[in-house]
Parts: sequence; structure tokens; C-alpha cells
Amino acid sequence: MFGGTYGNLQATRAMLEQAYHLGFSPQEIIFTGDSAAYCADPEATARLIIDAGIPAIMGNCEEALANDSADCGCGFEEGSACDLLSVQWFGYCRAHISAYVRQWMASLPRSLVVEIGKFRLLCTHATPDSINRFVFASDFATGKFSPLDGPYDGYVTGHSGIPFATGTNGKCWINTGAAGMPANDGTSRVWYGIIEQQEDELVTRLMPLSYDYPAAISSMEKNGLPTGYAQCLADGLWPSHDILPEVEKNAGGRALEETTFRFCRKTGHAPAEPASPPDVSSSSAAE
Ligand SMILES: [Fe+2]
Repeated sequence: MFGGTYGNLQATRAMLEQAYHLGFSPQEIIFTGDSAAYCADPEATARLIIDAGIPAIMGNCEEALANDSADCGCGFEEGSACDLLSVQWFGYCRAHISAYVRQWMASLPRSLVVEIGKFRLLCTHATPDSINRFVFASDFATGKFSPLDGPYDGYVTGHSGIPFATGTNGKCWINTGAAGMPANDGTSRVWYGIIEQQEDELVTRLMPLSYDYPAAISSMEKNGLPTGYAQCLADGLWPSHDILPEVEKNAGGRALEETTFRFCRKTGHAPAEPASPPDVSSSSAAE
């Protein structure tokens, strides 16, 4: 499970290679939206995902580009740093995607129901009722957000760019981070998730991925894209913190660890624990 490739061709290539290396077939891989955004190769990145033949859902970037909107649809406050940056990269994306890719973006579903063993999950870009709501781990602790009731054991999402998994009200919430931009953790790594059933538990591993970020930066520089996001690919620090709650803001610059999150219908969830490296031989039930 991965999303948020943001036009980062080198990271997307590395992501798919990693998925195949771990033994996943295209039908076991899911893309959670936002193929094109900050980086230099929106067309090639989207085509890589299309050609991979993997199930995909619509992110706010696909929605906005498919509608030929004036901005990315994140709902940033007017005049904020995110708002000003998005004007630049969104204009670039609009000018650099083909009618074919725009059509693909328009055709994507907003959600997918994913069955992993006996667990039924709803996969959406941001939340089930919003394609662009930012939800972070601290929003669960503060009670600002809790999953809606629904016939699901949990939800798998992206959009917010920082990976985490948690459980509340007998449901799990998994955000696999972004595969095309670091997690504001001071490292150049990007993130994906492996989800599988092990006995009675749904086990999620949130995994970092290293890739050829200097090539992605060079492509952005060649195309005159704003330096903030290019710099972020190297130092892992977001150019704007507008969307972050205080907890996540204060955690910025500290390297995230791989984690394993276990969820059980009967007992809820167990605390996340450091993960062991992915086991290539046991990938059959994951996506
Ligand atoms: Fe998004």
C-alpha cells in the first residue's frame, strides 16, 4: 500500500521495484492517490502507476487535475505558505500531464474495499467523507478525530504525509505516509505499508524506503520548480508546517522508525513496536 508519489518518478520506480522484490503481484498492491504534485515528473509517474496495472484510488490532486481546477484542492488558507507553494507546482502539473493521464485521473474511484484475510478495510485517500482532510496521529489522542462507524474493521489512508497506525472505538486507522516526499523526519526516506493477516491479528508494517533522491532533485532543478520541496527531498524537512498539529510540528526532524502495528477485533489494538525487516517469504496475504 502506497500513495503520495507527487510526481517523484525515481521514488515511484523504487517503490514498485520494492513491491515486486517482496513478491507482491499487481493485484496485491494498492495506490492511495496523489500521483502528481510537487516533483518534476507528473506524467511519467502517473504512467508508471497506470502501466503497473495496480488498483488505485483518487486523491485530491487527481480530482483537481481531472477537473482542471485552479489549485490542488487541499483547501489551504489563502496566502499561507502551502497556498503559495501549491500555486507553483499545481500550475506545472496542469501543463505537464496529457489528456490520457487526466482521463485516468478522472476515472479513479474514491474508495476501495479491501479484504485481507477476515479483515475488511476501507481504503480512501484522506477520510471516508473527505478527499482532503488532514488527519494525524495526535488527532486521535486529542479526540479531534475518530473513525466513523461503518461495516469495516478499519481504514487505510494517505494524504497527510506522515505514516502512523492506531486503533480507536474497535477500529484501526492506518496511514502509510507518502512514497514521494519524506515524512518531515529529517531523513530523505519515503514510506509505504505492508498489511497482512497473521492468525487473529491484522498486522501492519510501516516501512521506510531509500531511493535515488539526488536524481529527483536534479529533475526539479532542471524544470525550475520551487526549491523548498527539492530541498525537502534531501533534508527530509517540509518547507511548510501549516497543516501540522503542535505534536507533529514538535516531532519534526526526528527520524521515524519502522513500526509494526497489531490490531485484533476482539481486543482492539496493541501498541506499535519497532519492526523487523520485511519477510520476503510471507507476503501472500498483504497488499
Ligand atoms: Fe492528498
